[in-house]
Amino acid sequence: MSAARINILVLGSGAREHALAWKIAQSPRCEQVFLHPGNAGTMRAGFKKLEMDGENVDELIKSAEQKNIELVVIGPEVLLAKGYADRLREADLKVVGPNQYSAQLESSKVFAKRFMAQAGVATATYQMAASESELTSVLDLRREYPVVLKLDGLAAGKGVVIAQSREEATAFAKRIWLEKEFGPLPQRLIVEDCLKGRELSHIGLCDGRTFIPLASATDYKRIFDRGKGSNTGGMGAVSPSLAESAELMKVISKEVVEKCLLQFQKQKIDYRGVLYIGLMISPEGKPFVLEFNVRFGDPETQAILLRLESDFVEMLEHTAQATLTSCPKPRWTQDSSVYVVGAAEGYPEKPKVGDPISDLAADTGTQIFFAGVSEKNGELVTSGGRVLGVGALGNNIEQARKRAYSRLDKINWRAKQFRTDIGHLEPTG
Ligand code: AMP
Ligand code: GLY
Repeated sequence: MSAARINILVLGSGAREHALAWKIAQSPRCEQVFLHPGNAGTMRAGFKKLEMDGENVDELIKSAEQKNIELVVIGPEVLLAKGYADRLREADLKVVGPNQYSAQLESSKVFAKRFMAQAGVATATYQMAASESELTSVLDLRREYPVVLKLDGLAAGKGVVIAQSREEATAFAKRIWLEKEFGPLPQRLIVEDCLKGRELSHIGLCDGRTFIPLASATDYKRIFDRGKGSNTGGMGAVSPSLAESAELMKVISKEVVEKCLLQFQKQKIDYRGVLYIGLMISPEGKPFVLEFNVRFGDPETQAILLRLESDFVEMLEHTAQATLTSCPKPRWTQDSSVYVVGAAEGYPEKPKVGDPISDLAADTGTQIFFAGVSEKNGELVTSGGRVLGVGALGNNIEQARKRAYSRLDKINWRAKQFRTDIGHLEPTG
């Protein structure tokens, strides 16, 4: 890699993107990091917003050229599904994010299932239904509940239902095909076996031939302690994962990662970005793939990047240029990290926004990553469900927990809510 410094752009507006920009800015390879759109908090933290005349990829390319941006990291899956990576690469930018074709691994469950079958990786047995009557025929053959129903397309985390009974399955079908809650297009549904075991995510940088695992992490998906209440975008994360074992990682590498890489090569799939593999580990220790994501996990990334000691930009450039085989092995601090999300009242159903956020005074040893915040009369106010998160390192999880929580306790907004058990061993959820 040449030593010249470069300008780098991160696309997205959440805490994940704040963490990406924060780590990128520490690299000796980074001249300046821009975000688009970022949020009021990232701007307060000193990151520039890339200004654009309109919200489309042509304007993005124009602005990126004006600012001499060389490397773009794409955060949200929606942009990848729209083909932003393809267009940016055509404009000679280096991009971390897979092309539109391979982004279907996340944006189409049917595509992902076919890929898994071709690659020979273990996953739940499934059938497909494209209408209420097809679903009826599929359910006629099902003897056991629960079953898992997955809408084919992107649904912002609302497309998966674990139906405990036939009635619950048909109720979801009504929302799809009768009430058209997920849009007017013909909708396809995957109906699959409900797997038992414990969940684990395996996240890495991938260039189609090489996969470099990032540090492991566990996320906490439910709104309340002990995995109770509604599913959320994620209420916190810890790294390393509480479920990590070297033996299991070896099995995942051989049984899942290597098979995916082989399939990429067989199909000549150009995959340059993050591959996030969501797994269920059976009680016998066998990994089954639940899903692929084609982007950095949120909030896992915040916990993971707190532990990274290597040059992140070098890793990103190797990904973008498909040279990961010559990327030095990343170094991670032995310390543990804990990242706790603070959310607005009413999250995830109906977050109340517009409340002033106070007591953000700087503090060493912890890191705030902003998400749903905007500025009003010179003051930061809440503007989304997940408002911000606080991350901290510690010699062990307990120390990291204490640090992160003592900082989050001091930050105030009306009816702030957070889980108190991030970093506790059991149960996660
Ligand atoms: P997905 O978006 O496919 O990962 O599904 C979201 C969540 O639903 C997963 O994180 C699991 O908690 C659960 N899930 C998905 N598929 C299955 C399955 N086949 N068996 C059990 N749980 C599942
Ligand atoms: N934390 C799960 C995700 O990013 O999809």
